[in-house]
Amino acid sequence: CGIVAYIGNKQAYPIVVKGLKRLEYRGYDSSGVALIDGNQLNIYKKKGKVSELEAIMADKPTTSTVGIGHTRWATHGEPNDRNAHPHFSNDHSLAIIHNGIIENYGAIKQNLLKKGHQFASDTDTEVLIHFIEEIRKETGENLEGAVRIALKEIVGAYAIVILDRDAPQQLIAARKGSPLVIGLGVDEFFFASDATPIIEYTKDVVYLDDYQVAMVRDNKLTISDLDNLPTIPYIQKLEMELATIEKGGYDHFMIKEIFEQPRSIADSMRGRLIASEGHLQLGGLENYMNKLAQADRIVIVACGTSWHAGLVAEYLFEELARINVEVEYASEFRYRNPVIGENDVVIAISQSGETADTLAAIELAKSKGATIFGVCNVVGSSIARATHAGAYTHAGPEIGVASTKAFTAQVTVLTQMAIAVARRKGALTEDTYRQLLIELETIPTKVQQVFEYADKIKEIAFIFTYARNFIYLGRGLNFPVALEGALKLKEISYIHAEGYPAAEMKHGPIALIDEDMPVVFLATKDGSYDKIVSNIQEVKARKGRVIAIITQGDTRIPGMVDFVIEVPQVHELLTPLVSVIPLQLLSYYIAVMRGRNVDQPRNLAKSVTVE
Ligand code: G6P
Repeated sequence: CGIVAYIGNKQAYPIVVKGLKRLEYRGYDSSGVALIDGNQLNIYKKKGKVSELEAIMADKPTTSTVGIGHTRWATHGEPNDRNAHPHFSNDHSLAIIHNGIIENYGAIKQNLLKKGHQFASDTDTEVLIHFIEEIRKETGENLEGAVRIALKEIVGAYAIVILDRDAPQQLIAARKGSPLVIGLGVDEFFFASDATPIIEYTKDVVYLDDYQVAMVRDNKLTISDLDNLPTIPYIQKLEMELATIEKGGYDHFMIKEIFEQPRSIADSMRGRLIASEGHLQLGGLENYMNKLAQADRIVIVACGTSWHAGLVAEYLFEELARINVEVEYASEFRYRNPVIGENDVVIAISQSGETADTLAAIELAKSKGATIFGVCNVVGSSIARATHAGAYTHAGPEIGVASTKAFTAQVTVLTQMAIAVARRKGALTEDTYRQLLIELETIPTKVQQVFEYADKIKEIAFIFTYARNFIYLGRGLNFPVALEGALKLKEISYIHAEGYPAAEMKHGPIALIDEDMPVVFLATKDGSYDKIVSNIQEVKARKGRVIAIITQGDTRIPGMVDFVIEVPQVHELLTPLVSVIPLQLLSYYIAVMRGRNVDQPRNLAKSVTVE
């Protein structure tokens, strides 16, 4: 979700709404603002895009020089006006915007209900502001004091900003686990969940740390911790230019999206996974976890790149949760007479959420009584709505036709699902569970490290620009990665490429190998490493030209092959998240060098709404 707030000497509304638009890439199922008009605190909110909010604001008073705004990113299901932020306190004197999750809100809400509080939404956020209001009333503390007490009581993650009708010269903000940036202008302050809404006004920012409370009052910023010990704000200079966020500063959307992956992968875990607390919860699936844990079988339906994410998930669900999994092309599944029933769970994976074949497969499975989960990127899309429950991937809009960041976000979400269900089934030891969460949390950093090899990958791309064929080989979890690498190359460079399980090579493709055939091996250090080494030798013996994706520090393979690209060591089950990155880059650079229309390759569409 996105947070924007303003306090200063200008009208807040235009600044807040513009900021919300800049954050819209993060989520856009509903948005809202809170403004002061005389001695009245008003909240306006609307389901849909920020433009829908603007439409209802046309005739509203917007002279307020303080305001808070929010754009929401539902975990799943129908977004609505009621659950949109901001939220009021019981007496409508306070308004709050919040990113994150308050885990113990249920118990707090029960207590508040007993004290006569009435709630207008189902959100944890509304409970938080009522809780603060109640503490203020009961303790006689000022608002800031009440916020501190409340935040000590709650479990979870948050970035919040609170507006008080009776103190329009003041905004209070706090964070734990969810980012919050404060921009310092001349006689004005900006708050936002990332710097994009702030950049056009000021480059001086303070990043709030966990457990810090920031207060702007009478044009002065103070920052203190939950015990009210003040700290001196550390002012940083933003280096980002406005142009960078608008055009991305890249030549193509595809490369922008490839480089966005550390962020998009982190976003697909945000609010769901906190490794240090052993916390993993997919909100949209929570009520269905038992169903998943008890499923006889999981059937995954998808197309294209999403189908490859499904193949990765097959390994994970089987390995971790010991559930039988089948991965189907949606187009094949829908025209068979598949054996499927009430004890099966179908997972539909789709970036766009609009793919016709996948949608039809869902309807078929539904008619046979199966429970359907969605893993979609586009919030509120047809597939998200057609499923019983699901988890959004939250990769942000993907514009390049060849899917990159959507794939890694899908794999990240599916990995979280597999870990969560394995835990529910008691199939994981506490140690393994914790270890997996920790390892998953490091993935964004590890992906970032792969980018250090971008120039090297570019050189390799230069050498193979005019290759006519490519073979991609991998085993285990790297087999779907081989398929995905080949698909990327085909899609945007129009070079014929095939992905194969490395051991299957000897049953056919080996006949293709000669000194003109580039063979990309996924040869990271995992359980099948020795086998892959043998496969590499088989190719080298036939003079194939080998590009190997290896684990950093591997000393054995470099001496055997023509080129190596290193990726950092990760937990074996998380390998695809890093090993796919060099393949995305390789296909991108080759396509660029061949002068292809990378973002809109011929004959392909971003979402295929016809069968
Ligand atoms: C199209 C796109 C692919 C995508 C596939 C499935 O073919 O070009 O990149 O993987 O559709 O799309 P979905 O939106 O369902 O993931």
